[in-house]
Amino acid sequence: MIVCTQLDPSSNKQHRMKERLSDNEILFTQITKLNAELFSQLRKLFSDYKIQGLKHRGETPYGKKYWRALFNREYASAPEPQDGSVRDLQIAMHTVRELIGFADISIQSRGLVDIPLNYGSVNEFFIVPKHRRKGYGTILYGHVEQLFAEHNVDTVLMTPDPVTGVDFWRTMGYEDTGLNIGSGEPLIYRKHLAPGETAEAIDDAISKLRTPTQIIAINPYNKRQLSEMIPIWRAYCLKNDRRFHKRDVKSTAFEARKHRDVSFAAIYYGGGIVGFVLRKDKEEIRFIPGCDESLRLFLAEEEGNK
Ligand SMILES: CC(C)(COP(=O)(O)OP(=O)(O)OC[C@H]1O[C@@H](n2cnc3c(N)ncnc32)[C@H](O)[C@@H]1OP(=O)(O)O)[C@@H](O)C(=O)NCCC(=O)NCCS
Repeated sequence: MIVCTQLDPSSNKQHRMKERLSDNEILFTQITKLNAELFSQLRKLFSDYKIQGLKHRGETPYGKKYWRALFNREYASAPEPQDGSVRDLQIAMHTVRELIGFADISIQSRGLVDIPLNYGSVNEFFIVPKHRRKGYGTILYGHVEQLFAEHNVDTVLMTPDPVTGVDFWRTMGYEDTGLNIGSGEPLIYRKHLAPGETAEAIDDAISKLRTPTQIIAINPYNKRQLSEMIPIWRAYCLKNDRRFHKRDVKSTAFEARKHRDVSFAAIYYGGGIVGFVLRKDKEEIRFIPGCDESLRLFLAEEEGNK
């Protein structure tokens, strides 16, 4: 599907765009396995964008090869849904000569927050670096919002890139849901496209998930999380006469990713890590160093959430 947009010559910003572009017609093309090959430029830009985005989140991302293979798997050869329904859409924004941006959205998302209501999500969104801050992001988002409206999506949720995304998404009308309060992790933002009962019910369900305490699996690629865990691990080793090795935090996190019966999670309270839960060999270690008060608060909080 190709949709065209003419740039508005009366807008100064768009006039500047027109001068830069070799053609004044912006096209939106839905990526399918049939045309993904035409966008080989997109595959390269997609991997650069993923690598940068994960770095911004404090994670060590996989290399370009990994993201290009993922692009092929997810976009260039993904099977069509059997029932003919539309759940995800990938849109390339381009002129006849060059790619300008890309968006991946879900009409019925499940992954971002666990609530029994339908919401849409913006999963990926970028503008080619040399074209940023010229209004293209706003145009691409306008098209995306139109698609959400066509599919009767009332509310959209997303996690903006903490470095390059937050100001843009605020400008697009998105607000922080406050779900990150416990962990200081990337924020979940939301926008109601159709305020009403469903939107209120979604806000209500989200507010029930808000808590100052969260238990989050330790991500072996998240440098920020690993370095916050190290003093806690050291305190645990000291208390239990165990040899302390910094690297054990990362290797245990990797072990937990590989083995189903191992889990290693950080306990967040009020925005920082206060302890950990390690489940291994059918044993559970719950450790919150030196602060009986926070342990008491945490357990009371956890009981309250049940
Ligand atoms: C975020 C992104 C999509 C914005 O695209 P863009 O084409 O530069 O956005 P626009 O030019 O339409 O910006 C619209 C408004 O958003 C805000 N904005 C956009 N980028 C901003 C930035 N880096 N810093 C501050 N405000 C910003 C501004 O208010 C801007 O209006 P202005 O230029 O008149 O001040 C683009 O910077 C990008 O691809 N970044 C890397 C990937 C990314 O972060 N994607 C979002 C992750 S979900």
